[in-house]
Amino acid sequence: MWFVTPPGVYPPQEDTWLLEAALRRERLPPGARVLDVGTGTGALALAAARQGAGQVTAVDISVRAVLTARVNGLLARRRIRAVRGDLLGPVAGQRFDLVLANPPYVPTPATGRPPRAADRPRDAGEDGRSVLDPLCARVPALLEPAGVLLIVHSALSGVARTLALLADGGLEARITDRRFVPLGPVVRARADWLRSRGLLAPGQDKEELVVIRARRTP
Ligand SMILES: C[S@@+](CC[C@H](N)C(=O)[O-])C[C@H]1O[C@@H](n2cnc3c(N)ncnc32)[C@H](O)[C@@H]1O
Repeated sequence: MWFVTPPGVYPPQEDTWLLEAALRRERLPPGARVLDVGTGTGALALAAARQGAGQVTAVDISVRAVLTARVNGLLARRRIRAVRGDLLGPVAGQRFDLVLANPPYVPTPATGRPPRAADRPRDAGEDGRSVLDPLCARVPALLEPAGVLLIVHSALSGVARTLALLADGGLEARITDRRFVPLGPVVRARADWLRSRGLLAPGQDKEELVVIRARRTP
């Protein structure tokens, strides 16, 4: 699938595809309502639409990403509703059968300088959890009974904490996919800092991505 990806919008890559593969295994209920949080190009929202979702909402904090997702929806002739907003703000009070999330998760040193535009879709605070934590805390309330969250992130940002937060929210959460990928340019540029924090081992040149599936018990 071909996407328009302007500068500053996250190009679909390994984490996107790993989550998309998990999405393909899901059986969507008829007329399923799907939310893609942090949609970027809209790649995952469009994958859900292709899979037969009845209604797909895509949220991103970046205006550029929202416009890109809309253009990609038009090019793919798929109907997605792309809206700008912070996390789940634009969908407050709504319920979903499936929530997809590939949020920013790269641990980011506090430099006091504004982030580079290219890093912004990935930057996630010193522990990599500035978006993950609020998302894990707030998604459970948005899920229909038996609704599912599929979320992908790096093991660098703490898988056990994600599982624990989702369990606190009443979800049955487990890891469904793991993949080691070469360190990308952003992580490589931060490798010394990540090693100094004990997040990367000396000589480590790969990071593990995990997909977590969390289901609300009916
Ligand atoms: C790692 S990219 C994933 C993009 C796309 N879902 C994919 O898998 O290719 C994370 C996206 O989350 C968006 N984002 C970051 N913080 C956000 C927030 N607080 N609320 C909504 N979206 C956010 C970024 O703009 C970026 O498009």
